[in-house]
Amino acid sequence: MKFVNSLFAVSAAVVALGFMYSTTSDAWAGYAAVAAPDDAAPVEDSMHEFMEYVFQPTYLRLKASMATAPADNKGWKAVKSDALILAESCNLLFARKPDQHGEDWTKHAAAAKTYGGKLYNAAKEKNFEGAATAYISMINNCNACHKQFENGKHILQP
Ligand code: HEC
Repeated sequence: MKFVNSLFAVSAAVVALGFMYSTTSDAWAGYAAVAAPDDAAPVEDSMHEFMEYVFQPTYLRLKASMATAPADNKGWKAVKSDALILAESCNLLFARKPDQHGEDWTKHAAAAKTYGGKLYNAAKEKNFEGAATAYISMINNCNACHKQFENGKHILQP
């Protein structure tokens, strides 16, 4: 009985706290602003910084991890992680398409994402042959966008 009573007291306190929070407009407004699910505005507007700090370090790590077949779980985990970061980051390229040739931009981003996803799935199965094929196709599609939109700068070696 004592236990039930204290449980009741705790839940009452939680409800009261929640009510206090919802009525202190500042705290609540601050929380809501951060948690708004439709607020997908980029943190970094510059495409250059986005590629330099999200894509480049991930690509460099992945290139080293994919140089030879990973020997253990730790090695495969590194491939899975970087493959997923790149594939999901390609999703963030759709919102950055330029006014001119936007369909081509979208096509390159979608292709790089598809092969990034295949690399991720092959790494889950510890299938190095499949991973290597997907990795090279992903890089080819990263490069296809760089060729078209960067006049052939940033051509990456798999
Ligand atoms: C839809 C187009 C597009 C795709 C797809 C794309 N990139 Fe890029 N990338 C760019 C553009 C544009 C730049 C040049 C940004 C700038 O300097 O203004 C760039 C630059 C880079 C750079 C050079 C960064 C620097 O600091 O010099 C690297 C590295 C890079 N991308 C990696 C990748 C990788 C890895 C992928 C594939 C997983 C990829 N990119 C896919 C458009 C793309």
